[in-house]
Amino acid sequence: MERGLRGDIHSQLKMLISYVDQLPTGDEHGLFYALDLGGTNFRVLRVQLGGREKRVAKQQYQEVSIPPHLMVGTSLELFDFIASVLAKFIETEGDEFHLPVGRQRELGFTFSFPVGEDVVAELSKAMERQGLDMKVSALVNDTVGTLAGGRYMDNDVVAAIILGTGTNAAYVEHANAIPKWTGLLPKSGNMVINTEWGSFKSDKLPLSEYDKALDFESLNPGEQIYEKLISGMYLGEIVRRILLKLAHDAALFGDVVPAKLELPFVLRTPDMSAMHHDASHDLKILGSKLKDIVGVADTSLEVRYITRHICDIVAERGARLAAAGIYGILKKLGRDKVPTDGSPMPRTVVALDGGLYEHYKKFSSCLEATLSDLLGDEASSSLVAKLANDGSGIGAALLAASHSQYADIY
Ligand code: BG6
Repeated sequence: MERGLRGDIHSQLKMLISYVDQLPTGDEHGLFYALDLGGTNFRVLRVQLGGREKRVAKQQYQEVSIPPHLMVGTSLELFDFIASVLAKFIETEGDEFHLPVGRQRELGFTFSFPVGEDVVAELSKAMERQGLDMKVSALVNDTVGTLAGGRYMDNDVVAAIILGTGTNAAYVEHANAIPKWTGLLPKSGNMVINTEWGSFKSDKLPLSEYDKALDFESLNPGEQIYEKLISGMYLGEIVRRILLKLAHDAALFGDVVPAKLELPFVLRTPDMSAMHHDASHDLKILGSKLKDIVGVADTSLEVRYITRHICDIVAERGARLAAAGIYGILKKLGRDKVPTDGSPMPRTVVALDGGLYEHYKKFSSCLEATLSDLLGDEASSSLVAKLANDGSGIGAALLAASHSQYADIY
């Protein structure tokens, strides 16, 4: 982390400066929109912020799936689609939302993909093409958005972690601990850092033959190694590869290797989770999942137990590695142990979001248990891991508010 903060080009962690040096205070006022494009779904959202008293006075959102052809098409088509959804959403704005006369609507944009383009310019042009008079006031990624939303809900939030399709983390760093920051010292003394931890790799991070093969055959070989061990996009695929090997070498599913099992990504992490959580005595759910996904109608109880055990190993490894990453951040912040000067351990909150953390209970409980093990009893009693569901959209709207062109007037 320190190498990244120094700007060392060999650093495994990019430790990107987010330019967010002021997190929401609770005083934010007015009507703001947000677009949240990051994980599996795309969301549009509007909030009426009512300051310290009323907080989020009113909030509405809509979740939209992006048609698959747009995922692989041009950015122009994608942004046109997004802008058209936004335009329709704005039309449904009711009287309970209030924009003072003569003011432009403003938007916070959560965009969580690394691209070479100026996404604010692209989105602004697409909005113009839709005839929308709207200004993009803040651009963040999902971790920074979740951190902002989390801090608004709880003042002790120091870091935000996404565990979903992908994984990443952001945290609040002291500006004077960022040697590569050459700007003025922010008023708050802090700067949010986007670690981009998914790209971490190290000789000390052991990779199995399954990890190596998955990486080699992926769209980005050699990249995002930590993410490939942890996130929802890959856990099911690792399990599939292990099952396939056992099907070949140990006839796990009989003499014939099921053809479907050869298909990359056919076993999705939500299916793995369903199999892993099957607590019935005959593992019925697991059996029917294997039938649907692998195409094997009758599996013995032993095969089902083996399959569940593999899910357990893969999920546990991912959860423990993710917990180690969070522990690293807490250690960097000095929140990993009780202060030696006798002062009490400050309450420390980590906001977490993403489908993996939210829905895969054995994953999240293993992560939390590991974090407690690493911190020890005393330090872990001051730590709160909080689900900040959809926090990044609201976080982006809050940052749009604090960076509003009318900020001084509100
Ligand atoms: C959502 C956030 O709740 O989680 C998004 O609002 C984020 O910003 C997403 O990208 C990640 O989770 P998943 O499971 O959709 O990848």
